[in-house]
Amino acid sequence: MTKKLRKAVLPVAGLGTRFLPATKATAKEMLPVVDKPLIQYAVEEARAAGIDQFCMVTGRGKTALVEHFDVAYELEATLRERNKTDALESLRSTQTEPGSMVTVRQQVPLGLGHAIWCARAFIGDDPFAILLPDDLVLADQPCLAQLADAYYETGGNIVAVTEVPPEQTNRYGILKTGRDDGRLVEVKGLVEKPAPKDAPSNLSIIGRYILMPEVIKYLARMERGAGNEVQLTDGMAHLIGEQPFHGLRYQGRRFDCGDKVGFLEAQIAFALKRPDLADAVHTFLKHYV
Ligand code: UTP
Repeated sequence: MTKKLRKAVLPVAGLGTRFLPATKATAKEMLPVVDKPLIQYAVEEARAAGIDQFCMVTGRGKTALVEHFDVAYELEATLRERNKTDALESLRSTQTEPGSMVTVRQQVPLGLGHAIWCARAFIGDDPFAILLPDDLVLADQPCLAQLADAYYETGGNIVAVTEVPPEQTNRYGILKTGRDDGRLVEVKGLVEKPAPKDAPSNLSIIGRYILMPEVIKYLARMERGAGNEVQLTDGMAHLIGEQPFHGLRYQGRRFDCGDKVGFLEAQIAFALKRPDLADAVHTFLKHYV
């Protein structure tokens, strides 16, 4: 029987070097798109997929991420006193049920696979989602909810996938594909950042996963892969053949907010979706282009 998906791991221990100096003293995942930090989009997306238990894998200089989901008594009291009801309302989804969010520390950023392994006590024997907060997906149905629907159809492991230009395979985890109905594709193999000439396809994984807890025992081997990092992709590859493993071509548009251009594009795309901002943004865009 397919177990209910209730847990999400949010790895936020990366150094964010592509965003220095902005990320010198603050976390990349606290960078806002319009007026919400990346981490909050990820938590809201997880909630929309039925998740109610969260684990952030943090590191040095990441305390603001924890503060963000706490109650801010003084701020709230001041807003209430000043009748700033909209501002107060905007804080609502930053609050988590007491005890529903834990953090673990990845002392040294040895790679995404190592970060997930650090959450092993939280994961226990349960299926779990992973959301990389710097991948933002604009979609009618939130991306992780699409993935969860597919998980309840197929069981086992499932990752969100999208076609990338063939010359860019060396930036992503790439699938070797089996049966493919245009939406769900059977995963026959996984390679992290292959050179275009070695890539088995141009179908790449984005930062949304639903995985079975057995992946932890493979990550525990601490095998170093691409970039000499412990790669999640390599750990997942061991599950192929042992458990169902599928890729889902999700509906929506993904923005790589760990990259400057992707981040700027996300600001525009998300602002244009906002009734309070769309007109003003349209007007100034015309001025620039
Ligand atoms: P990235 O590859 O974007 O790395 O990590 P990064 O360090 O955050 O950013 P750059 O490349 O230096 O600019 C993808 C996700 O994995 C997490 C990151 O926080 C991000 O959410 N991660 C990565 C960890 O938690 N630990 C690691 O050791 C590596």
